[in-house]
Amino acid sequence: MKAGVLATGSVLVSAKIANAQEVIAFKLPDLGYPLDAMEPHIDATTMGIHHGKHHAAYITNLNTAVASSDDLKGKTIEALVGDLGAIKDAKLMATVRNNGGGHWNHTFFWDSLSPAARSGKPSDDLTAAINASFGSVVKMKEAFAVAAMTRFGSGWAWLIEKDGKLAITSTPNQDAPMMKGMVPDTEIGKPLLGVDVWEHAYYLKYQNKRADYVAAFWNVVDWSAVSKRLG
Ligand SMILES: [Fe+2]
Repeated sequence: MKAGVLATGSVLVSAKIANAQEVIAFKLPDLGYPLDAMEPHIDATTMGIHHGKHHAAYITNLNTAVASSDDLKGKTIEALVGDLGAIKDAKLMATVRNNGGGHWNHTFFWDSLSPAARSGKPSDDLTAAINASFGSVVKMKEAFAVAAMTRFGSGWAWLIEKDGKLAITSTPNQDAPMMKGMVPDTEIGKPLLGVDVWEHAYYLKYQNKRADYVAAFWNVVDWSAVSKRLG
C-alpha cells in the first residue's frame, strides 16, 4: 500500500515536470510586422508560409528532440546550437543541428528585416567597419551576393564579425556561424546579417532567379538592427 502511494506520488511529480517543460518549449516568435510589410520585395504569401509553416515546423521538430533527452532540456537555443558536439547521439545531434539551426536562423532573419521605407543605412561605426574590411558598402554587397549565389542547394549567406574584422561566409542547410565544430573555423563568427537562400524563401515570387531575390533583399534590411549587432 505504501509503495502504491509512493508510486502515485512519483507519477504526479513526473506530470508536473512534464508540464513545466511544455511551458519552456520553444515557441514561434511573432514577426513584429504584418506579412505584407516587405512587399513588393518579399511577398506576403511567401512570408506567411515561410514563418507559419517552415519556421513553425523547425520549432515542432526541435521541441520533440529536446523532450527526448534530459541533457537538452532547459537549454537556450544558443546553448543548443553552439555546442552540438556535446550531443553524442548522431541522429539526435543532426535533428538539433537542422531544426535548432532553423529556429535560430529564421528568428535572426525576421529580426533583420524592416519595411523598405524604414530600412535606413548602416551606422557610422558599421560603415567604417565595412569600409575597412571590404573597401566599400557596395563591395560588401557584391561579396555577399556572390556567397548567396554560389551556395549550392539550400543554405544561408552571412555578414559576420570575426577577430575584429568583418567577413562574408555561407553555410549549407540550417548551419549557422556559431556552430563550432560543425562548420569550418573560417565561417565561425558573430553574425551581423544573414539571407535565407532556401528556395522556400523566394521561389513563389522569384522562381529560379535567386540573384533578383538577393538584390531585392537589400531594400528590406533593417540596418538599425544590423548596426546594433556590431561589437
Ligand atoms: Fe527559410
